[in-house]
Amino acid sequence: MNYVHTSIMPNELLAHLVPHSADPIMVDATCGEGGHTHLFLSTYPDLKVIGVDRDREIQEKARIRMEKFGFRFEAVNAWFDEFFKEAEDASFDLILFDLGISMFHFDESQRGFSLRKGEPLDMRLNSDDAISAFDVVNRYDEKKLADVIYAYGEERYSRRIARAIVQQRKTKTIATTDDLASIVYKSVPPAYRYQKIHPATRTFQAIRIEVNHELDRIEPAITEALRTLKVGGRLAVITFHSLEDRPVKWLFKNLAQEDRPMLNILTKKPLTPSEEEIASNPASRSSKLRIVEKVR
Ligand SMILES: C[S@@+](CC[C@H](N)C(=O)[O-])C[C@H]1O[C@@H](n2cnc3c(N)ncnc32)[C@H](O)[C@@H]1O
Repeated sequence: MNYVHTSIMPNELLAHLVPHSADPIMVDATCGEGGHTHLFLSTYPDLKVIGVDRDREIQEKARIRMEKFGFRFEAVNAWFDEFFKEAEDASFDLILFDLGISMFHFDESQRGFSLRKGEPLDMRLNSDDAISAFDVVNRYDEKKLADVIYAYGEERYSRRIARAIVQQRKTKTIATTDDLASIVYKSVPPAYRYQKIHPATRTFQAIRIEVNHELDRIEPAITEALRTLKVGGRLAVITFHSLEDRPVKWLFKNLAQEDRPMLNILTKKPLTPSEEEIASNPASRSSKLRIVEKVR
């Protein structure tokens, strides 16, 4: 089996997430191919990991990778907010969120997450969901489309891009990532076309976030996750952009400032990858790691 995702900040996570109780349980809320899960199971022989992921295909890869650990690994197919809502109080020692999607999604899933592969527009993590990227691009009205691209892509040309999409689809359905990337490319000013990233990168990110309701799930999931954490347990969140990081930072801050706070923030400033990690895994560049301990 080929595993294409490189796990972020492994050493920093191992240094801060150390199981202390007998029969400790960790929840890897975004298990993906299981890079972090594998690391923790290999390091701590008594640890059990529950690996949550909504994507069945990537979860199957993790399941095969973790077979050698037997009963110490359990895969749960669920959105992480729904998983924690159902879980009992104070059940877990360690919880990890590594937000966003995996390199698997860009490279192997063939669901249109990458703008360079000429794939059908899908972008669903859960293939049973009703709304795909195709529906967002071909059915949302112009204002709603522009709002999504602005809010979830922080794209300053959101209105021009939305207008161009709506114009184009009057004559022909927008079916593939190539179609969408080329519409965006042509709709932005020429100077904007030649930056480090493709001019459609932000639009693709926005549509993916909309399809999977990614941002709406973060705060409820972490709030519930903290309820399910044992006192003395630790929760870590890796984010990749400010839209993900901001709600995490404020939630932790607010909870740490209550009269009798339930948590202690262990990373006053978020941890970031070392120069060496960035050199060997450039995709880690924008990541941030925040860790809290439950004290009450
Ligand atoms: C960045 S990857 C995790 C990589 C993993 N930590 C590793 O080291 O291999 C994030 C994973 O979380 C899943 N995911 C994203 N949002 C989710 C959500 N709200 N609920 C459940 N799974 C989610 C994605 O399908 C993806 O596989």
